[in-house]
Amino acid sequence: MNAAGSASAAAAAGGRFEIQTPKSIRALRKTWELYRQADLGLRNHWYPICWAYELADGKPLAQKVLGEPIIVRRVDGKVYALEDRCLHRRVPLSYRFECFTKDTVTCWYHGFTYDWKTGVLRTILTDPACELIGKMAVKTYRIEEAQGLVFVFIGDIEPPPLADDVPLGFLDANRVAHGRRIKVDSNWRWACENGLDSTHVYIHRNSRIAGALDGIYPMGIAAKPDHAKLLDIRTGDGPKGLLDSLSENYEPIWSGDIGEATEVTSAQLKFGEELDLVIPSVGIWMPCGVSVFDFPKRGMSAYEFYVPIDKKSHMYFQISTKDDCPDLKEAAVFRRLVDDFWGPLVFDEFNGDDVMAREGLEDGYTNGDGWQQEYLTPNDIPVIAWRQLVSRYARGVQQIGSNGPRDGAGATAP
Ligand code: FES
Ligand code: FE
Repeated sequence: MNAAGSASAAAAAGGRFEIQTPKSIRALRKTWELYRQADLGLRNHWYPICWAYELADGKPLAQKVLGEPIIVRRVDGKVYALEDRCLHRRVPLSYRFECFTKDTVTCWYHGFTYDWKTGVLRTILTDPACELIGKMAVKTYRIEEAQGLVFVFIGDIEPPPLADDVPLGFLDANRVAHGRRIKVDSNWRWACENGLDSTHVYIHRNSRIAGALDGIYPMGIAAKPDHAKLLDIRTGDGPKGLLDSLSENYEPIWSGDIGEATEVTSAQLKFGEELDLVIPSVGIWMPCGVSVFDFPKRGMSAYEFYVPIDKKSHMYFQISTKDDCPDLKEAAVFRRLVDDFWGPLVFDEFNGDDVMAREGLEDGYTNGDGWQQEYLTPNDIPVIAWRQLVSRYARGVQQIGSNGPRDGAGATAP
């Protein structure tokens, strides 16, 4: 089933959710207070930590997720994750990986040696008779793999199904996904708000992508008056989020006149041709994923994850997918096409505009008075809906110290 098909098939069943529009700005801000506090992300959710291809040949990898330092490695075909802190003096094990056997990692400082599968302290190379051996364990994390990505669960509850925490359609059986990840210097929320903010098509107006596809980008799009009612908000079983159809919920704006005979328009504008918007539907999904169905062309969908690293940076997963690709050979060809063609055009150029937008938002909100002084317009209804949705349905807010060290025995294999 393609993304659009699964979207309609999964039409929301559960809880009612209506966008709150209190009269005063102050009252409106209260409706997204939890979201405002979530600068380190949402706790008790699944997040991609890396691509499976990065763990080839037993190579270990270190990555901070929601402020938690984590190391991962594939052992006997399965990926395991440990807290990246030695129990002895709390140094990061990843400062210098020492994996003398396939299923252990040894601290480079004094030789504490841990089991990748259980986190248990198996031996201490410099103190083999120490009574702590076998009685202590570093924290382990639950891991799942899907669509070529490795997901880690950050939280304290029994993890819900991964399918609840990825964008709609992402796990479709015949979908093939390929892409990359890069670090971006902005808080994760500016990435979400950039990803779902459809009227920012303005910054893409000169992108070569539309020209490459012979499609048309208008200079901008403006939300229809009843936009709030047109949003497809999903709060039932499965991922929680919202879908915004660009072709149905907006009017195109072809040019802007700022006087003095100066007109701003899109570089790809082709007058007289039938409108064919290149991006028909954008979705945002908790905890931090975006779907763009039929992008960059029909039969393909783009997915993105904005995984908080810390308060001021996120890992940007850029994923190109083919909606229906059951054939393995075809899938391999598609991956090469992403590496050689779509990657430079979409990931580097098109998304380069988005990275600039997020970094541009960073200072005004993280260091400045953005939360108090922003002026949202009716075009920002999806942003408001997203903030309110997260505030109502997040399973928790990550805070510094959420991940306390464990000092007892009893850690179990994920
Ligand atoms: Fe790791 Fe001492 S700090 S063994
Ligand atoms: Fe964009």
